[in-house]
Amino acid sequence: MEGNVRVGLIGLGEISLIHEAGYQESGAAQLVAFCDVDIERARERAEPYGAKYYDDYEKLLEDEEVETVDIMLPHYLHYKVAKEALLAGKHVVVEKPVTMKYQEAMDLIRTAKSMGLRFFVAENTRYVKAYQEILQVLRSGELGNVYYVRTLIAGSEVARYSDTGSWIRQKSRSGGIVLDAGVHTFYLFRWFFGGIKEIKDAFSWHLLGADAEDNAVIIGELSNGAFFVSQFSDTSELPWTERLEVYSRNGVLLVDQLVNPPAKVYHGTMDEEGRVLGVEYDPVGWKARSIIEEIKDFVGAIVEKRDSLADPEDAAYAVKDVEEVQSKLSVREHI
Ligand SMILES: NC(=O)c1ccc[n+]([C@@H]2O[C@H](COP(=O)([O-])OP(=O)(O)OC[C@H]3O[C@@H](n4cnc5c(N)ncnc54)[C@H](O)[C@@H]3O)[C@@H](O)[C@H]2O)c1
Repeated sequence: MEGNVRVGLIGLGEISLIHEAGYQESGAAQLVAFCDVDIERARERAEPYGAKYYDDYEKLLEDEEVETVDIMLPHYLHYKVAKEALLAGKHVVVEKPVTMKYQEAMDLIRTAKSMGLRFFVAENTRYVKAYQEILQVLRSGELGNVYYVRTLIAGSEVARYSDTGSWIRQKSRSGGIVLDAGVHTFYLFRWFFGGIKEIKDAFSWHLLGADAEDNAVIIGELSNGAFFVSQFSDTSELPWTERLEVYSRNGVLLVDQLVNPPAKVYHGTMDEEGRVLGVEYDPVGWKARSIIEEIKDFVGAIVEKRDSLADPEDAAYAVKDVEEVQSKLSVREHI
């Protein structure tokens, strides 16, 4: 890959370390500026690169050396900062969820197009090896018509919820787990099955006592006619995992990042072993690997002037699905 993409990072939380690794692995990016309201954090991260550091993102946007801005901020800031970055003439990478509202996401996509800039949404689902392998099976026709899909995204945010000042606790700032995790699943549904036809019901729980929901179950119908049940949990005391079950009359596909091997396809009750799909068991690193591949793809897309695998419009539609869920969400009593 040729060329040097000059990148400025805004929001230096945990996820930014993985993005940084992606830029390094790309071999075609130069990290020229770091920004966080915590100036000490920005300084420490900039130092090894001899890069500039700021505590005000507007200063980073004024920096002419920065040509691509990577936004890894709390959700309520995505739209505002991404819009300002585009208007400042920068290419933009923004973490998921692209924005908190569908119309905002479409506005960013239109703004980037009208200004001749590149706009990427860091939807790592598109780069998860297990899902890429599953897609091959679905496209091969081996399974035939899918009639039921079940998904789970689970892990623990209990520590972050226990910080009463954390943005993740506040529905207006994070959107709750339906936005935070739901966009991954709804993106997957669009990628694999053409999206969601109808949300039938949606429940949420606030087990940690915050006004953002920390658990949710959503039931609906996909565009291909299959029913789905999706569960999201921020209170599961296990390593972050995703589970996907796809049922058809010919067989069943199973993905679970905590199971070894993580991806298998079964055909019938006598098929005890199932067929192992080519996915390495990596319960700790599977997500980070997908994010690193995503960043490498974005850098490649800029250098080679091509589209990225993850289409920002699909990420925007996932936010639209979340809006539909929110309109039907009923809150369950604490248990
Ligand atoms: N793809 C994934 O699986 C995945 C996983 C984790 C997080 N994320 C996404 O990454 C984004 C960031 O999440 P996180 O967990 O790293 O959050 P975080 O709270 O750990 O980090 C956010 C950082 O932004 C800084 N910040 C806040 N306001 C700022 C401002 N106005 N200007 C500059 N800096 C500011 C904070 O000081 C903090 O360092 C979110 O969109 C989240 O959904 C994605």
